[in-house]
Amino acid sequence: MFSITPPIGITPRLDLGNLPNEQTALSIRDLNLYYGATQALFDISMRIPKGKVTAFIGPSGCGKSTLLRCINRMNDLVDGCRVRGEVTLHGQNIYHREVDVPALRRQVGMVFQRPNPFPKSVYENVVFGLRLQGINDPPNPRRCNGAFAAGGGSVG
Ligand SMILES: Nc1ncnc2c1ncn2[C@@H]1O[C@H](COP(=O)(O)OP(=O)(O)OP(=O)(O)O)[C@@H](O)[C@H]1O
Ligand SMILES: [Mg+2]
Repeated sequence: MFSITPPIGITPRLDLGNLPNEQTALSIRDLNLYYGATQALFDISMRIPKGKVTAFIGPSGCGKSTLLRCINRMNDLVDGCRVRGEVTLHGQNIYHREVDVPALRRQVGMVFQRPNPFPKSVYENVVFGLRLQGINDPPNPRRCNGAFAAGGGSVG
């Protein structure tokens, strides 16, 4: 016998309309996205609250991943992709031309549906992010209780 606290149905709903600006982590306004001539996102406006879990739910192909990729500018890497509108993270427009995109991606990480490792060893894949951040002496694999031993070979 166990109980869920607070009971389902009593959890207060977040009233986004009344959420103060400082409690908004991310704000999307009038976002439209095109893959070449094909429009994939239409007039998206939403706020994502700080410190909460937010889920995008919808049928396959409706644009969930496309929208997620807008939040750390991964779509910049897609040929022919154009984004119009505004995405602000902690009040700053991430599409401003002076934004340091690698720094943005250090703040807004992504875990992909399918792993896509670089053609390096598993260890090098794991420490890639640390190296990008200038940490050139990541943990020695021999001191990681054999965590890397099983996958020490090359991938790809
Ligand atoms: N790189 C791309 N080039 C052209 N069209 C694309 C590209 N990526 C996605 N699309 C198209 O954009 C639309 C939205 O795709 P997206 O992958 O964002 O959907 P999704 O909701 O994440 O789907 P799923 O639930 O299957 O992951 C689809 O019509 C898809 O074919
Ligand atoms: Mg997807």
